[in-house]
Amino acid sequence: MADVRPFGTEDLVRILFGSSAFQMLNAGCNLGLFALLDARPDLDPEEIGRELGLEARPVQILLLGTTSLGLTVRQDGRYRNAALLGGMIADGTWEIMEDLVAYEEQIVRPAEVDFTESLRANTNVGLRRIEGTGTDLYHRLCANPELEQLFYRCMRSWSRLSNPILVEQADLTGVRRVLDVGGGDGVNAIALARANPGVEFTVLDLPGTVGIARKKIAENGLTDRITVLAADIFTDTYPSGHDCVLFANQLVIWSPEENLTLLRKAHRALPDGGRVLVFNAMSDDSGDGPLYAALDNVYFATLPAASSTIYPWGQYEEWFTAAGFTGFQRLPGGRWTPHGVISAVK
Ligand SMILES: C[S@@+](CC[C@H](N)C(=O)[O-])C[C@H]1O[C@@H](n2cnc3c(N)ncnc32)[C@H](O)[C@@H]1O
Repeated sequence: MADVRPFGTEDLVRILFGSSAFQMLNAGCNLGLFALLDARPDLDPEEIGRELGLEARPVQILLLGTTSLGLTVRQDGRYRNAALLGGMIADGTWEIMEDLVAYEEQIVRPAEVDFTESLRANTNVGLRRIEGTGTDLYHRLCANPELEQLFYRCMRSWSRLSNPILVEQADLTGVRRVLDVGGGDGVNAIALARANPGVEFTVLDLPGTVGIARKKIAENGLTDRITVLAADIFTDTYPSGHDCVLFANQLVIWSPEENLTLLRKAHRALPDGGRVLVFNAMSDDSGDGPLYAALDNVYFATLPAASSTIYPWGQYEEWFTAAGFTGFQRLPGGRWTPHGVISAVK
């Protein structure tokens, strides 16, 4: 049997009060605690209260929480951020993290109360928390412009956090045109276009989303190399003339049957020798981790679509084979998020 760390009462406490732990992070972001301690480390509680406009009692509650969790460090009655936070603020990752916190708070949390019911019913019961009649989150977002803006701002941050892995691992040598299926606001096409100057891209997404993508691509000065097309990725034929098809954060949304449909469509659209790239979070084939995939799955189980989940690496290889692809390559990201690329050839 594999060496398993014994499960203790401290672990139990972290789980029992898991959503309270998240609220400490959320409040620390919203109230500006971490930004304050970054600008002015080693403040005492009175100074912190004055700067944040908080009374002594809430300051004490907040600092007890953030310090017990390790987000802040107390020394001689003064507080500073944990070194990890300092590093993330310095390299710009914390700005991304604040959007992820907003995503968890405003989009995931209201729906995750339906997690148990979603497991029982084997479908995304949490979608009932989002107004509208579409059967998946994306069709409902199109009918909720304010929520849609928040979603794409945060989705962009999720992608900015992980897509350096895509840029590093996706080998586009010899590729001329990439079809980015369900490319959202174009965040990945933009990053790949910058790193691969000779390559052109087509972003396919729902009619309600393509305006956001066009705006972002124009802001990045890439309209000459990235085209945006409104299409339904299931019912519309994929445009021809691409020698690579990318599914980024896409095949975590759909059922095995739907993923196979999408991969078969990609296979039909590609010339011989064309490549398919799948980029998203992956779970281990052993079925016991990593923790990020396990916990992020609460969101996937309750909200995006009826069968969303973080699949294990091996599952993609089975679908590739069934869709007619060969020459699989697993390219794990090796960072703290379990994102990776898996590629295959027609
Ligand atoms: C999880 S987001 C990923 C966006 C982008 N690929 C990224 O990594 O940031 C999924 C995207 O698929 C799009 N999508 C979902 N269903 C679709 C459909 N039937 N046709 C076209 N696009 C769809 C959504 O609008 C959304 O932009």
